[in-house]
Amino acid sequence: MAIHKVMVIGAGQMGAGIAQVCAQSGYEVVLNDLSEEALDKGLKGIERQLARSVEKERMTEKEKTEVLGRLNTSRQRSDAESCDLIIEAVVENMEVKTKVFADLDEIAPEHAILASNTSSLPITEIAAATKRPDQVIGMHFMNPVPVMKLVEIIRGLQTSDETFKAIEDMTVQLSKTPVEVQDFPGFVSNRILMPMINEAIYAVYEGIASPEDIDTVMKLGTNHPMGPLTLADFIGLDTCLYIMEVLHDGFGDSKYRPCPLLRKYVKAGWLGRKSGRGFYQYE
Ligand code: NAI
Repeated sequence: MAIHKVMVIGAGQMGAGIAQVCAQSGYEVVLNDLSEEALDKGLKGIERQLARSVEKERMTEKEKTEVLGRLNTSRQRSDAESCDLIIEAVVENMEVKTKVFADLDEIAPEHAILASNTSSLPITEIAAATKRPDQVIGMHFMNPVPVMKLVEIIRGLQTSDETFKAIEDMTVQLSKTPVEVQDFPGFVSNRILMPMINEAIYAVYEGIASPEDIDTVMKLGTNHPMGPLTLADFIGLDTCLYIMEVLHDGFGDSKYRPCPLLRKYVKAGWLGRKSGRGFYQYE
């Protein structure tokens, strides 16, 4: 199945990055959001990134103009009717996502693939909101999208081999490495990463070492580029808690119990970098 035109729904952190890499790889892209402000902010962010690439001589001014020429914004979901692939990157909320997928199922052409960038919600359940569950798949990009090389491709229970192959090929086209993952809570990345972060928070909670020292151990002792608590602040502590709850509920196993200190910080509004305070303080 040939993919020429892509719609990305949600122009936030992830959606804008996905739209950028698709346009840079030669696809026609429509970036869609309900909010004009989000579209403006998303597009400005992309322009800034491309301008930086030109400055660093990774791209010519002409290439930048061509990339921006392939990228359009829209607030009309009906524009999905001319797209071969729709990648959803709206808020991490099942009700919102299933509503978007049910709508898209009505609008998108019969051959179109509907993908979700969800970081934790079951693809099988999202697919069940459509009449084409065989053409629904997870395409889990990492943040920041233009930099990170991995895409987890999640097969829902009914995802067809043809759909999987089309998305795998496209991922390679985007200069990313695809990894095939079955649809279970946390997929692979968050199944392994989040319990590690949660354990680091338990180490703070139990007074084993300071956040700085825990991060130093993991950086210098295990060669991680960033300590788990710095990373948790970067991801957002609310997001970390949410994903731990998905693992805990999904497997019903106490080993995924979110650390009480994580809950406490989230309740206090200490959400990490975005709120100015998490395990560290930010300007
Ligand atoms: P964000 O909050 O930055 O962006 C979400 C955007 O979706 C907003 O601009 C909002 O206006 C828009 N939106 C909400 N409902 C909409 C609708 N019905 N139709 C059109 N637009 C709508 O969120 P972010 O961080 O970009 O996350 C998006 C998705 O990507 C979530 O599912 C998240 O779990 C996933 N994800 C996030 C990662 C991260 O590090 N932030 C990493 C990997 C996946």
